[in-house]
Amino acid sequence: MELMHRYTDETEALSRAVVAYARNRIANPQPLDGSASGEELTRRAGETITPEGLGGEEALRIWAEVLAPATISTDHPSSMAFVPSAPTKASVLFDLVVGASSTIAAGWIDGAGAIWAEDQALRWLADLAGFPGTAGGVFVSGGSAGNLSALVAARAAAHARLGERPASGWKVALAESAHSSIVTATRVMDVEVLRVEGDDRGRLTGAALHRAIAELPADQASSVFAAVASAGATNAGTVDDLAGVAGVCEAGGLWMHVDGAYGGAGLAAPSVRGLYEGIERADSFIVDPHKWLFAPYDCCALLYREPRRARGVFRQEASYLDTVNQDDAAWSEWNPADFAYHLTRRARGLPFWFSLATYGTDAYREAVERVLQLTTDAADEIRRRDDLELVTEPDLSVILFRRRGWTEADYEAWWRRILEAQIAFVQPTSWHGEKVARLCFVNPRTTMDHVLAVLGTMG
Ligand SMILES: Cc1ncc(COP(=O)(O)O)c(C=O)c1O
Repeated sequence: MELMHRYTDETEALSRAVVAYARNRIANPQPLDGSASGEELTRRAGETITPEGLGGEEALRIWAEVLAPATISTDHPSSMAFVPSAPTKASVLFDLVVGASSTIAAGWIDGAGAIWAEDQALRWLADLAGFPGTAGGVFVSGGSAGNLSALVAARAAAHARLGERPASGWKVALAESAHSSIVTATRVMDVEVLRVEGDDRGRLTGAALHRAIAELPADQASSVFAAVASAGATNAGTVDDLAGVAGVCEAGGLWMHVDGAYGGAGLAAPSVRGLYEGIERADSFIVDPHKWLFAPYDCCALLYREPRRARGVFRQEASYLDTVNQDDAAWSEWNPADFAYHLTRRARGLPFWFSLATYGTDAYREAVERVLQLTTDAADEIRRRDDLELVTEPDLSVILFRRRGWTEADYEAWWRRILEAQIAFVQPTSWHGEKVARLCFVNPRTTMDHVLAVLGTMG
């Protein structure tokens, strides 16, 4: 089949089929679906990459009949494992537009309209956090990429301040609350982790951070270039002592990075906004709209208090990019490529922008509050049941609880059993060394009926 063919009757038919598939996906309730082995998928899908091509209709059939059912719908109201998703209909629809538009949102010169819109969405987030008007950033693929870029910028800032790499090497301070991507970022960067003891819920506090730095040998004190605070932690949804951490960072000249990939959405909810006190003093923070801000994958907002510090690290210099990099030119007003490790980028913030523009920010506040209320109601229900017990109070929308009398094997068998029965997708976790049940909510369409259905499987 020819690659760049005209728009034929066959293309029209494929257009209709693809749009009908996408339309059905958002118009009607979808199955939770499950997983499958590669062997089974190979057997059922057959060879899909062939010299002649299968044709769009057949490729779509294989997707719909074989591959999609082996791919969990993380936006299902009973998807409560890891951090699920809940993209709005407007955001999903606009994702189709982004795909159809061939927009390169790396530099203002060819992406101005898209970048302007992304920047409006970033501005809303920066305002929620209380960042200054000069703050700015970029949408990257996910929290992992956002955390890595922020820490790379942080190290460069420390290097510029000290004028050299400390003889003892670089260190990032973090507590148990920090997401695994932070530790991976330190490996990528070849820097060490300074483990700070968390409080009784694993949270990073200013006092413990201060102690950990003070206990370092004198020649290592300047090696700590950043502290990472979580808001909130993925495992238990806890929010670190942001104000305390900010105080220590300001006193010691450390870069404060706040990882709000999952929990940053709570900034929009007045009922929990107080937990984030101090975030306005951070040097950088991230939040993933693809988690609890109702956007499709993949989308992480990375914001810097002083974006120029990131530009100094990430800007790519090449003779063919000279026009792009002319700082005072109208065509280089804001180049997203300058603020993370990437050059070409999809305008992945646009579905989020379109959704914000469509529904308005009040609808976001209400949706986040609804999820928080569901969490409160679900926690109350767990307290009422004799065979269940909360292991820690929820700060945001994660609930950790034990089923009295269950062994590790019981928790493992439980999640498999209820996924197999298409009741819910859940995952156990560990808390202080004990295997426990974990529910994570981000979907405003999840109701107490969905929660009761899960709890009913633990009898
Ligand atoms: C707090 C936190 N940080 C970082 C990440 C990594 O984000 P991503 O999976 O988008 O790379 C996650 C993912 O769950 C997270 O919850």
